[in-house]
Amino acid sequence: MPKKQISIDTNLIHAGEKPDKETGAIAPVLVRTKTYRQQFGKPSKWQYSRGQNPTRSILEEKLAALEGGGKATVYGSGLAAETMFFMTLRPGDNVVVPEEVYGGTQRLLSKVLGNFGITFTTSNFKTEKSITSAINGKTKCLFVESLTNPSLNAIDLSLVRDVSQKSGVPYIADMTFTPPNATRAYEYGAEAVIHSVSKYIAGHNDVIGGAVATRNEKLDTELKFLQRAVGAILSPDECYRAIQGSKTLSVRWEAMSKNAKKVAEYLSGNKKMKRTLYPGLESHPTHEIAKRQIKNGFGAVVSFEIAPEYVNSLRQFVKEVQRKGIITYGESLASPETLIAYPSTMSHGSLTEQEREKLGISRTFFRLSVGLESPEDVIVELERGLKRLE
Ligand SMILES: Cc1ncc(COP(=O)(O)O)c(C=O)c1O
Repeated sequence: MPKKQISIDTNLIHAGEKPDKETGAIAPVLVRTKTYRQQFGKPSKWQYSRGQNPTRSILEEKLAALEGGGKATVYGSGLAAETMFFMTLRPGDNVVVPEEVYGGTQRLLSKVLGNFGITFTTSNFKTEKSITSAINGKTKCLFVESLTNPSLNAIDLSLVRDVSQKSGVPYIADMTFTPPNATRAYEYGAEAVIHSVSKYIAGHNDVIGGAVATRNEKLDTELKFLQRAVGAILSPDECYRAIQGSKTLSVRWEAMSKNAKKVAEYLSGNKKMKRTLYPGLESHPTHEIAKRQIKNGFGAVVSFEIAPEYVNSLRQFVKEVQRKGIITYGESLASPETLIAYPSTMSHGSLTEQEREKLGISRTFFRLSVGLESPEDVIVELERGLKRLE
């Protein structure tokens, strides 16, 4: 029986793409032009690459198809994508965000958008009451993030959908940590989806980009206008790499998830750990929600907190885990290379120490993005590093 809908794996390869008309070339076209020849007196689809670019269109069509329909627009980074979405709001409007929201989102709201009259309130998004009590008369949207960064809490999107429907306040989901092959937020009623394309989607440590996908045509039209009017676009070269990188999204996700689970199991059994956070472990506080909501694994990221008595030997730990060049101390996630990050000075460095403490990001808290190396090799590196903690 033919299936009604093309599967996400097929869309990853083909959506938005056609062999080149003239040569039959299969790789996507990389159109580096700034401007286009036009015909006097006739409207032209292609005018100037800030407004439209064929390589960008391929990526946008692909991302829209992956989410399950609608449209998508791409920007120079995940934060640029968030900014463009927030620019559809007006002074006085309010946004509800998770208490544990990506540090860059918190910084954008508190230190930039606040200057333009946009306010935000926070909720832990665990209960209907916690969400409704954060909503006020000016609230225009709920902005959730799942999994959260860095504690990897799965926000229950069915709960958010129910509250959103009851209150009439739409919700937007930053799904950077669970891309569409793992969770499709539209299936849970999201109005729009945001991605840092820099992470799982492009997937190779060589792109910074962001996207907003939506099935709301009015919102998409506003975003397309902002893309041209503000100019925070993604260059054709970055779009090309993101298109090519995205084709292996599902296989990377599944392989990284398997590797990360092995590493998480190893860490959780180590006596020097205070706690290991991986949504695929039964011990994770939101494991049950994650199990319902996330498909084909739980992703590459494992966070862990070393017991506080080792706080003075973290430098040796970080040096030692990098000794063979398999693990690298650096920001970001979801690349083939295993990265170890320190949220206190990296992703959540813009928060105050108290704000971090409230979120459980202590001085011994690390975030590991397990890559595509052999997980056994990664474990050997971690073990050597952990032995240096004294
Ligand atoms: C959940 C989340 N959203 C947005 C961003 C911002 O993306 P970018 O670094 O592409 O600006 C990040 C970056 O780490 C993130 O983790």
